[in-house]
Amino acid sequence: MCGIIGIASNKPVSINIINSLKKLEYRGYDSAGLATLDNNLIDEKKCSGRVDELEKILFKNPSNGNIGIGHVRWATHGAPNIINAHPHSSEEVSVVHNGIIENSDELKKDLEAQGFKFKSQTDTEVITVLVTQFLKNSKPLISVFKTLKKLKGSFALGIIFKNFSNIIIGARRGSPLAVGYSKEENYLGSDSYALKSMTNKISYLDDGELCILDKDNVEFYDVNQKKINKKIHTVSDDENISDKGDYKNFMSKEIFEQPATIKKCLNEYTDSLKKDINIYNFPIDPKKVNKIVLIGCGTAYHSCLVAKYWFEELTSLDVDIDIASEFRYRNLKFNSSNLYIFVSQSGETADTAAALDICKKNKVKTCSIVNVVESTIARNCDWVLPIHAGPEIGVASTKAFLGQLIVLYILALKLAITREDIDKKDYNNNIKSLQKLPEAIKNTLKLESEIQLMAKEFLDAKGSMFLGRGNSFPVALEGALKLKELSYLHAEGYPAGEMKHGPLALIEEGLPVIVIAPNDRYYEKTLSNTQEVIARGGKIFFITDNKKRLLSTNIRFRLRVPRVDNLLSPLLLTIPLQLLAYHVALLKNCDIDKPRNLAKSVTVE
Ligand code: G6P
Repeated sequence: MCGIIGIASNKPVSINIINSLKKLEYRGYDSAGLATLDNNLIDEKKCSGRVDELEKILFKNPSNGNIGIGHVRWATHGAPNIINAHPHSSEEVSVVHNGIIENSDELKKDLEAQGFKFKSQTDTEVITVLVTQFLKNSKPLISVFKTLKKLKGSFALGIIFKNFSNIIIGARRGSPLAVGYSKEENYLGSDSYALKSMTNKISYLDDGELCILDKDNVEFYDVNQKKINKKIHTVSDDENISDKGDYKNFMSKEIFEQPATIKKCLNEYTDSLKKDINIYNFPIDPKKVNKIVLIGCGTAYHSCLVAKYWFEELTSLDVDIDIASEFRYRNLKFNSSNLYIFVSQSGETADTAAALDICKKNKVKTCSIVNVVESTIARNCDWVLPIHAGPEIGVASTKAFLGQLIVLYILALKLAITREDIDKKDYNNNIKSLQKLPEAIKNTLKLESEIQLMAKEFLDAKGSMFLGRGNSFPVALEGALKLKELSYLHAEGYPAGEMKHGPLALIEEGLPVIVIAPNDRYYEKTLSNTQEVIARGGKIFFITDNKKRLLSTNIRFRLRVPRVDNLLSPLLLTIPLQLLAYHVALLKNCDIDKPRNLAKSVTVE
């Protein structure tokens, strides 16, 4: 997955392209490039590494064109180097691409047999060659349509043409693409966020659509090459997100924002006076829902895992959960009385979006829990429940995880009361417990200095293990994921009771083992599992909300988070694990906001 931008203007565009690319770096950051049309020549500049590098190149050698395209890359085909960086240009055209052309090898072979030479290892270069070929006999629009017919896979494209120097063509299949409007300037971008500083008037291309834009006009075409009109949305003016304030990086800002974002989310969904939850317009009558199916990837999948425990505890509903990349290829039996819930921070994750498409084809009801309300997943679902976390920039998800949890919990509660699975008193008490969370999260964050000390113990570790039972098991998975993502230290998340069936073999003298043990019905069992680890030399980091010190010897570190309702403990127990991963990564000098090999929004399969 990658980020693309295109600007057609009456003034030089390279500075705005750079600024937009900086915002798109969450989609990929292994190389960057841009191309503008200057004096009827394609002026292409590329670098490996970050957009900052590209900016330095431009500083020394400016690009002056009034029309241009830009790209940030997350390598799929070919190593992340300058040759494979986009744009990919011929004498005639320059192309930026987000997605994967699945038949690129086949197309390349055919074109090579015809005598074409390829410079890069990318799948994208076939598009450049095909459009260039078709341009010999056709106008740009038709050349692009002819090219698209040959492509299998997913793409969002931006293309400029040497001999048609006032237009940019954009096209979408699978990967998202937005168009922005301004006075004497129009834009193409992977998302509205990249365009926000230039405009809040946005249209979104749907699958198979194409657009042609110049500085004054934008035209849209459907897959049959028929001209169509698109709705123009006004994108909300969010808080100033590009500012880290006094924080070292976005991740620490986002971790410490959690009391505020959770408060905001609670204000949106709960009415503390009426002691009620403001969720209406269920796509299926709650009493007629048969099963809840929760789908997501990465951290979002972990929030589905936690929610499974909540739905089972609070409601009489059956619950299935699935990783989107698995769900999309399974032979599933769809049922119109099931509610399919898609959880995604970005709302653009390709696997989650594909799983949603399958549900739509099977005509079942869908709901999305997203942070980005203008996203593809949000727009394609029957029902959207935003998490109101504000933009999350750090690649490792933190505040969005807590936001997803809150909305899932609130949804479970509302379903429970509407289906009469719980009584009004319990419902009111649960809402009251929710209101205590922002303060409890604030107090949990005060553990940071203790966690800093803990982090030092991970510097020489060869690996680590995170254990939990019940709804602390997904917390263990999330803690292990955070540590892997940020500090590149191997970490396993495991249900504590399952250790004896294999992973116990990994325990050796000094291996850090993080035990997540709230004072719930599993507490004693978790203590026994902890003893088993201690007996084999594991170094225990014990995270609990229990005041009683039942285990005191052989515990290397003990952290106590505030006590809240048992069901809500995952929200608090996650925070020390976020901070732990953060501080280990900081000590190891890792790139906190942009860990190696990863991207914030994974828009390829
Ligand atoms: C990427 C991110 C993860 C995220 C996952 C799902 O892998 O690095 O932090 O959890 O995608 O993203 P989504 O936007 O669908 O929640």
